[in-house]
Amino acid sequence: MRALVYQGPRDVQVIDMPDAAIERATDVLVKVTSTNICGSDLHMYEGRTAMEPGRILGHENLGEVIEVGSAVDRVKVGDRVCVPFNVGCGFCENCEQGLSGFCLTANPGSAGAAYGFAGMGPYNGGQAEYLRVPYGDYNCLLLPRDAEEKENDYVMLADIFPTGYHATELAGVRPGESVVVYGAGPVGLMAAYSSVLKGASLVMVVDTHKDRLKLAEKMGAVAIDNTEDTGVEQIMELTGGKGADRGCECVGYQCCGMHKEEVPNLTMNNLVQTVKPAGRIGVVGVFVPEDPGAEDKLARRGQMAFDFGQFWFKGQSMGTGQANVKAYNRFLSRMIEHDKAKPSMIVSHELPLEQAPEAYKNFDERKKGWTKVVLKPGT
Ligand SMILES: NC(=O)c1ccc[n+]([C@@H]2O[C@H](COP(=O)([O-])OP(=O)(O)OC[C@H]3O[C@@H](n4cnc5c(N)ncnc54)[C@H](O)[C@@H]3O)[C@@H](O)[C@H]2O)c1
Ligand SMILES: [Zn+2]
Ligand SMILES: [Zn+2]
Repeated sequence: MRALVYQGPRDVQVIDMPDAAIERATDVLVKVTSTNICGSDLHMYEGRTAMEPGRILGHENLGEVIEVGSAVDRVKVGDRVCVPFNVGCGFCENCEQGLSGFCLTANPGSAGAAYGFAGMGPYNGGQAEYLRVPYGDYNCLLLPRDAEEKENDYVMLADIFPTGYHATELAGVRPGESVVVYGAGPVGLMAAYSSVLKGASLVMVVDTHKDRLKLAEKMGAVAIDNTEDTGVEQIMELTGGKGADRGCECVGYQCCGMHKEEVPNLTMNNLVQTVKPAGRIGVVGVFVPEDPGAEDKLARRGQMAFDFGQFWFKGQSMGTGQANVKAYNRFLSRMIEHDKAKPSMIVSHELPLEQAPEAYKNFDERKKGWTKVVLKPGT
């Protein structure tokens, strides 16, 4: 099969790889029809993770089931399914509690597994013609009848729509509240969108990319353009000097200052400043236990100079980590089915798999207009 393979920093290629196949009786084999490029792929693309060369990337996958293992009974050949980026077993202590992002058996010795992801198990990604889905009955979300017509909406259920929603859950967003979201990438936009869907009264989105901020406005949020480093001031002014009720971090460890230089503690400390006393912060942007490629000495060891005194003094709290996609994907899919949500509004490019390398390059450079790429293997 054709597949997008990580070769080394800023080097990905579409090459021939052995076909994905059923390996265990509980597996499902999917012919991938849509697979997105994610901001998480960029951490790997840039060589800022321990991703091994030779592996297939891609964790935001949707397609048609073409084969099922002998122990699969719910999922059938011909079903159209969206596959959460987490690989969960369904029977461990964490999966039982809905914490499918922290499965204890899918990546032994660690908590949490994913497709085509550094440090998250041996699973190959779906930026390819076929994908092996372990524990298929547990991991496949069966899509409704309008699956093909709304494919670009449903594929967002593999990661960014539930992840944006998860940020608002970690932050505890409730109707009528104010929310500040750092990052207007796909994840930040979905956190803003989820806040709007939950009935927040004021949603502010901080970034420097004007095209992305425009999309935030389209969703009903207020754009906070931080190009002149006035983001914090703008937020304090809009909230009457108090700060937002809730804050979402949707950038991660490679967050930048205005001149594109990495400042690893910037978004976290800005959140402490711009969230109100006793407010809550949800952090879904990825932070890593070690980052040998970082300029910053602390960051190399996965540490940061965090304003903990201020955080404590304000009595703030926070939630962090990978999204448990399965906790949300079913009800979010109903919002798509019943036209209450249209996450595809952020899709900027639909491209054949063969064009993935140039798509990575453009998305990585955050080129104007490259917000979210959906790859279409087999076209
Ligand atoms: N927790 C999870 O389960 C999960 C799932 C998916 C993605 N992620 C992570 O979420 C993060 C965002 O993903 P994405 O796809 O939106 O990526 P992205 O890289 O496209 O978007 C990040 C955005 O943040 C902006 N930004 C950079 N520095 C900033 C700052 N100081 N203040 C405000 N904005 C700043 C950038 O301009 C960019 O628009 C990544 O770290 C990704 O790995 C986490
Ligand atoms: Zn993703
Ligand atoms: Zn599990």
